[in-house]
Order: sequence, then C-alpha cells, then structure tokens
Amino acid sequence: MDTRKAIALLVQASLILVMSIILVVAAVLTYYVEPALFDKDNEIWYVRDVATDLPDGAHGKQVKYGHLLVSETPTWLGPQALEGFQFTGNNLSCSSCHLEAGTKRGAASWIGATKRYPQFRGRENNMVTIADRINGCVERSMNGMALPVDSKQMMAIVAYMEWLDAGIPKDTVGYFTGLGEVSYARIKADPIQGKTIYTSECLVCHGADGAGVWKSDSSAYQYPPLWGQDSYNHGAGMHRVLTAAQFIKANMPWGVATIDNPKLTDAEAIHVAAYINSFERPVKTDVQNDFPELTLKPMSTPYGPWADDFSADQHKYGPFQPIADYYLTTYGITKTK
Ligand code: HEC
Ligand code: HEC
Repeated sequence: MDTRKAIALLVQASLILVMSIILVVAAVLTYYVEPALFDKDNEIWYVRDVATDLPDGAHGKQVKYGHLLVSETPTWLGPQALEGFQFTGNNLSCSSCHLEAGTKRGAASWIGATKRYPQFRGRENNMVTIADRINGCVERSMNGMALPVDSKQMMAIVAYMEWLDAGIPKDTVGYFTGLGEVSYARIKADPIQGKTIYTSECLVCHGADGAGVWKSDSSAYQYPPLWGQDSYNHGAGMHRVLTAAQFIKANMPWGVATIDNPKLTDAEAIHVAAYINSFERPVKTDVQNDFPELTLKPMSTPYGPWADDFSADQHKYGPFQPIADYYLTTYGITKTK
C-alpha cells in the first residue's frame, strides 16, 4: 500500500470515528433532555387531545364522557343536570380550576395524577384513592355531594385521567403537577391592597361583585364566580390564601399569566387571593373533623381547630413565617402552606 492510500484510509477512519463520537454525544444529550424518546412504552407522552387521540370503541367513549363531565360539569353533574345526577352543588366546571380539562401545567393538572394514588392525606389522616381525591373537590371546590365511587360518572372521570397519563415517563409525572410557587415570607395578606389589584387585573372578567359572567346560552360561566353562593365553599383548597395565590400567580389574569411567565408578583398574588377570600361563600359542614391529626393541617387553613395558639386571622392572612417556624421548632414539621 502506498503512503497516499494509507493516509486516505487514515483520514476516512478518523472521519468515521469523529462522526460516531458526535452521534453518541448527541444521543446522550438527547437522552438527558428528552428521555421519553428512548422509552418504547412511552411513545405518546405529549398532552393528549380528545379531538384527535381517542382510542376506539367502548374505552374511547368512556374517556370522552369523562372529558365531557369535567369540562361541562354543571350540565351533566351539576345544578342543571337531570334529577338524580346533580352531584356538584355550584355551576363551576372542574376545568374552571383545572384549566384546559386538566392538561395545563401549573393549574393542578391531572397529567400524572393517577400515578400518585392511593396516597396518604392529612385531611383524612388515611390513604385515599384517586376517586376519594376527586370527591374531595366535588364536596368542597364544587360544594356538592360525593359521587358513588363505582358510578358510571366517577369511573369515566378516572378513565379520562388514566388516559391522560397512559405511558407517561416517570420523570414527567411531576412536571405537570400542582400550582405555581409563591414565597410568603413575612407578608401579611392585605385584602385592601388586594382590592386595588383585583380592580385593575381581574374585575373585567370576574365582575365587581365577584359573581362572574354567564355564557350567552346560560349553560355555564364564561368567567366563573370567585365568591358568593355559587363559588367554592369555605372548606376548599382555593379558600386557603396561599393555595389561591399559587393558582392565581401561575394562571391569572387568564390568557396572560403562565407558570413560567406570571404577571403578578408573589405579594400581589397573596393580596388579591386574600381579597377574593374575604367575602362570604358557602359553608362546608363538619370541617372540624378535617385533619384528625391536627399537626398535619396546612397552616393557612382558615378554620380551626389548630395545634397552635395563633389567631384565626393569622391562619387566614398570615404572616405565615412565624407559624411555619413554630411547627418546625415544636413538632419538627416543615410547613409550606
Ligand atoms: C375551585 C377550584 C377547583 C375546582 C372547581 C375543582 N378543583 Fe380539583 N383541585 C383544586 C385544587 C386547588 C387542588 C390542589 C392542587 C394542589 O394543591 O396541588 C385540586 C386537586 C385535585 C386533584 C388532585 C391532583 C393531584 O395532583 O393530586 C384531583 C384529582 C382533582 N382536583 C379533581 C377535580 C375534579 C374531578 C373536579 C370536578 C369534579 C375538580 N377537581 C374541581 C381546585 C379545584
Ligand atoms: C380575561 C379574563 C380573566 C381575567 C382578567 C381574570 N380571570 Fe380568572 N378566570 C378566567 C376564566 C375564563 C377562568 C376559568 C377558566 C376556564 O373555565 O377555562 C378563570 C378562573 C379563575 C379562578 C378559578 C375558578 C373559580 O371561579 O374559582 C380563580 C380563583 C380566578 N380565575 C381568579 C382570578 C384573579 C384573582 C384574577 C386577577 C388577578 C383573574 N382571575 C383574572 C378569566 C379571567
């Protein structure tokens, strides 16, 4: 073999080597950025759409029905449903809070939710199933009465959630979960400052009286109410100032704020949450039985009893840091909300 041929071969071999290295590095990088691509079972982990991605047959029909129940709730499960089907007590839809039928990240999305149940919950001091958790929202956020867990409706809602989840990579499960982050520090939530923010950022849709705006065909709300008799009741998560602030910061004003690009500051979200939660709303019965183990109660739960001596006003409006400090030093428990 002459020298020129040898050099040419060497160059070729090095090129192949360099290209292989580039390929391997690219594959490794892709794996870290998008691991789902490498998991055969997880080909479909993008947000599914009932318009295009439904399975065939009875299962597809059930999922579609579940989607209908969570997005047009007053018509099918609420005050406007047929007698015997009226489980939810107000005219909100599940999707009034779980935006985009539970698929919007930062709005307590259901993507990944069924994977987390059964789970231990302090409110019951027990293990709860996904159906129990749904009924928690039915009884509080929707001010209604629990659906039988084996009812056609409950099974369809769960089927819808499982379909949203199916094939989701383990490390994507948490991505959609929960609400935005709000640091409360030593802020005392102030409904008076909240009113100013409400007037400039929220009133145009939710109304001066917080009663929302109905759709022109009166089937549901265009803009849901934030307080008053057709709103969530006082036992709901949204009635805790910190939870409401987390939701608001990540999602409101609607169409503007997202979890990655909020409009309000933490303090503004807390003040406006205090404002909307300073009005009358339906009262949930038997809330004194929530959190049998009182130390597990979120510190911003506005109703007692509590395992501490802070005032009801401070539990509702803060400042929360002293309460968090108390639980840490007294019980060794870290409170975030
Ligand atoms: C007024 C607002 C509101 C309405 C209406 C509402 N929810 Fe919720 N829901 C919440 C909040 C707030 C949470 C807790 C989110 C958090 O703290 O991470 C939650 C949590 C949940 C969870 C647990 C999610 C998880 O990640 O573990 C499920 C499931 C759920 N809701 C289902 C429903 C269903 C089904 C409906 C309708 C029947 C409904 N919700 C109506 C506000 C609402
Ligand atoms: C452009 C109209 C618009 C503005 C402005 C707006 N919202 Fe909303 N809000 C909505 C809509 C629409 C929904 C329900 C989403 C759905 O049904 O898909 C909603 C849902 C909510 C909910 C949960 C459902 C309920 O009724 O409890 C809360 C809480 C809320 N908004 C608070 C606020 C606050 C606070 C502000 C001001 C910072 C605000 N919104 C600004 C349109 C708006």
